[in-house]
Amino acid sequence: MPDSRPSTPAQDIVIIGGTGSLARLKLFPALYDLAVDDMLPAKGKIVGAARTPMSEDAYRELARQSVTLYARNGYDEEAWQRIAARLTFVTLDDAGYDNLRRALTQPARLVYLAIPPSAFGTAVRALSKNGLIEGTRLLIEKPFGRDLPSAKKLDKELRDELDESQIFRIDHYLGKETVQNILVFRFGNSLFERVWNRDAIDHIEITVAESEGIGGRGSFYEEVGALRDVVQNHLLQILSILTMEPPSSFDAESIRDEKEKLLRAVQPLDKMRVVRGQYTRGRIDGHAVKGYLDEAAVPDDSDIETFVAARVEIDNWRWAGVPIYLRTGKRMPYKATEIEIGFRDVPRSYFGGSYPHDMEPNSLRLAIQPEEEISFSLLAKVPGPSISVKPVTMSFSYEASFSAEPAEAYERLILDAMLGDPTLFVRSDSVMRAWEIVQPVLDDPPPLLDYRAGTWGPKEADKLIAPDEWHLR
Ligand SMILES: NC(=O)c1ccc[n+]([C@@H]2O[C@H](COP(=O)([O-])OP(=O)(O)OC[C@H]3O[C@@H](n4cnc5c(N)ncnc54)[C@H](OP(=O)(O)O)[C@@H]3O)[C@@H](O)[C@H]2O)c1
Repeated sequence: MPDSRPSTPAQDIVIIGGTGSLARLKLFPALYDLAVDDMLPAKGKIVGAARTPMSEDAYRELARQSVTLYARNGYDEEAWQRIAARLTFVTLDDAGYDNLRRALTQPARLVYLAIPPSAFGTAVRALSKNGLIEGTRLLIEKPFGRDLPSAKKLDKELRDELDESQIFRIDHYLGKETVQNILVFRFGNSLFERVWNRDAIDHIEITVAESEGIGGRGSFYEEVGALRDVVQNHLLQILSILTMEPPSSFDAESIRDEKEKLLRAVQPLDKMRVVRGQYTRGRIDGHAVKGYLDEAAVPDDSDIETFVAARVEIDNWRWAGVPIYLRTGKRMPYKATEIEIGFRDVPRSYFGGSYPHDMEPNSLRLAIQPEEEISFSLLAKVPGPSISVKPVTMSFSYEASFSAEPAEAYERLILDAMLGDPTLFVRSDSVMRAWEIVQPVLDDPPPLLDYRAGTWGPKEADKLIAPDEWHLR
């Protein structure tokens, strides 16, 4: 965490859905890690709320367990007590929101909606009815709607009660240090911005691959699929940061203006340039894994995609004609989020290589997770009497260059919301534009193709990118 940050002003933190998996896996660990770094608000309660009653003791134990299991910093009793002393639980029964109001101690609060999207509207109306809008900053999880009409409806429900400046829409990818570093890489180094355009760049590839399947979340995933779960949000957000114009200044609205302007130039998906896939049984890391249709709570005739590859174009002066390949999938060979920028080849090559890939043009790889590194591939002369060339790599690794362990995305996002900084949150207009981009394929999807678990998706995805090749393959 940067230590130039202002101290976090007094406020209560309310987690509606405070017993769910997001609260346990991410939110309590993030609050604990903030407590370790002394970044919790100067004063204020931490209030968990859910419909199922729970004693305060049981709730503290639930939070403590999650901290022990998932916090970045190891468990320390003194740091835990800084959370425990503030923690309380409110049951959301008939008098729930009235009791919630009584539990609060500060005029300002962060309210985290960690509940199913279908309950967002009701929760916001209940906050309003109980006088809890003024002083609230609302953190809201993705997915924001499940298509353009439902996103518009949800937006209206929120905007009927709250001002846009009070709404912090989370895309947790934006909280990752490596994603923020794209901005520093582009706008902090004079070298790259000069070649960041159609004159020098041949194509761009962004892959978000997971080796996991859907685990026990079959009914959740059946409502979502890869297009809604990853393409509409994470992939388009990364793309907008990677390709937007330089903002007029580095304040939140200037950056968000440029991201939105970029998304306006992205052409809506064309089903002829989209490949949808669903994994069948296969092997990952030597272990046999189930196919999607064998997962719990998935119907035999499910048409939900677990893989999407798409070719998109950005219709502006900087990027016209540069193909952009987006790809995401579950049950891929390993977990990796990476960007690959392929540069144009030299106009005429003088050098021969000893095998075909020796002559690959320059490329830049931005690895977001789990590896956090940037590497640039260039050709070098192989030592010896003749001129023979081979690609070599220059690389920068976060781990090797910075001794401090980066904060988790949720730590950063919760902290920014408490400070009222919206830079890393998605503005309403960007969310709507992202839905407009994917909507044609939601309305009229291309056929669903099989791919074996442990592979990089259907073969048709390779044809989509030809004559280029996926960097991860
Ligand atoms: N889990 C993750 O890692 C993850 C990642 C990204 C985004 N998200 C998003 O985060 C949200 C929560 O997901 P989750 O996985 O934590 O769900 P979950 O495990 O099902 O937990 C939902 C929580 O909300 C409460 N709840 C459910 N309906 C409610 C209602 N109508 N009013 C008030 N409380 C209600 C539940 O307790 P009661 O049933 O007792 O009320 C529980 O505390 C979802 O929007 C999801 O899309 C989750």
